[in-house]
Amino acid sequence: MADFVGALDQGTTSTRFMVFDHGGNEIARHQLEHQQILPQAGWVEHNPTEIWERTRAVIQSTLTKANLTHTDLAALGITNQRETTVVWNRRTGRPYYNAIVWQDTRTDRIASALDRDGRGDTIRHRAGLPPATYFSGGKVQWILENVDGVREAAEAGEAVFGNIDTWVLWNLTGGPDGGVHVTDPTNASRTMLMDLETLDWDDQLLSFFGIPRAMLPTIRPSSSPDPYGVTRADGPLGGEVPLSGDLGDQQAATVGQVCFAPGEAKNTYGTGNFLLLNTGEELVRSKAGMLTTVCYRFGDQAPVYALEGSIAVTGSAVQWLRDQLGIISGAAQSESLAAQVEDNGGVYFVPAFSGLFAPYWRSDARGAIVGLSRYNTNAHLARATLESICYQSRDVVEAMREDSGVSLDVLKVDGGVTANELCMQMQADILGVPVSRPVVAETTALGAAYAAGLAVGFWNDTDELRQNWNEDKRWSPEWSQDQRETGYAAWKKAVERTLGWVD
Ligand code: G3P
Repeated sequence: MADFVGALDQGTTSTRFMVFDHGGNEIARHQLEHQQILPQAGWVEHNPTEIWERTRAVIQSTLTKANLTHTDLAALGITNQRETTVVWNRRTGRPYYNAIVWQDTRTDRIASALDRDGRGDTIRHRAGLPPATYFSGGKVQWILENVDGVREAAEAGEAVFGNIDTWVLWNLTGGPDGGVHVTDPTNASRTMLMDLETLDWDDQLLSFFGIPRAMLPTIRPSSSPDPYGVTRADGPLGGEVPLSGDLGDQQAATVGQVCFAPGEAKNTYGTGNFLLLNTGEELVRSKAGMLTTVCYRFGDQAPVYALEGSIAVTGSAVQWLRDQLGIISGAAQSESLAAQVEDNGGVYFVPAFSGLFAPYWRSDARGAIVGLSRYNTNAHLARATLESICYQSRDVVEAMREDSGVSLDVLKVDGGVTANELCMQMQADILGVPVSRPVVAETTALGAAYAAGLAVGFWNDTDELRQNWNEDKRWSPEWSQDQRETGYAAWKKAVERTLGWVD
């Protein structure tokens, strides 16, 4: 057997390819950003062709850097930004429209209509999701209704839908020249189209959005001993490697953090934040604004479910300080700027740029900075931005506790923002529980590698994977209880100010 497993992580802002060894150690990686297309307020698109080009480039560069070939890889796993929607022509391989990104709010009318006539409750029960702009169903409907020729092509079986995992898998295995059209239950559970119990597309849910079944990919296990396909010899790997793992990025991070037992949870700090709690084979329906989602399905084993708190804007609020306000030149500077002041100086920033996701689910919310006085500086705003990441996570932890009764003893964290030590200390202070970061912070790619490697026998079982997890650093709460609760009450008041801002 080859010595390594590869993982492609196609995220919201960048695409990376990573190679891991049997100990779960990183051997090599390459990463490239892609364009964020913002045609009007609330719209966010990506160019699927650019994403495929970036995919090719990062794979080739990683292999070249590490002096590896396809023969060094036992298997390949895919992980991806979820919900983002591509519709393309299966004969030509050409997308009909840009990918509509998960953050895009153009489908707010479609989403709110679902709640006016009872369809919303069916979606909540069957798909585990509140009707929202976030998920793929409304995005596919929008493309069918607004892009010329797509409805006819879909009915003729020519226009197909996929999330980014499906798009990349289709291209890696041959594209118009025989590519496979597949996804896994973790990705499918983010569409509002799949029944969480049967793990199959649901005809009634499809009818809510007017989506022909022929457009949809086949749902295969997240870790599949019978691979979805092999990479094409004339593709970026230059040879055939089995594609045997596919997980949405947040579920992949849960696997990478080895949260295999019910009650284990992780919080990933990326563009947004996503806290997932493994609930085992039990499908817990939320009453507190969490999503019920598939955590993973390995081979023919029973699916494992999770409760998820999705937060739309966390790391991207730091990017906003950099790109739109220009008060920092890089993400790392948010830490040094925020460290110039002792506290937030009374400033609270609620970055509700895409409305508010969990636990509020309010598409009518918009961002607000409150509590300003003349005394405040950029440093207070930087601090309030980092705090907003942590307060939003606290909102989700509170909701999770309400739904599941699970109180976390420790929060396992990963993702780019966890490099910000000040932010991690704030998280421990605001939550009142210790925060723990693993040595391999790239848990998303690692989780996809684990899913692919388990399928082909590179790793034997999840116990073996647990051995690979090691703590790098732990932050303990330093705030007093009084400080914590006063701060949280002010945060809740700030959130109130953002609700109902738009129709
Ligand atoms: O649900 C959206 C999520 O999958 C995006 O993750 O890391 O690309 O921001 P990320």
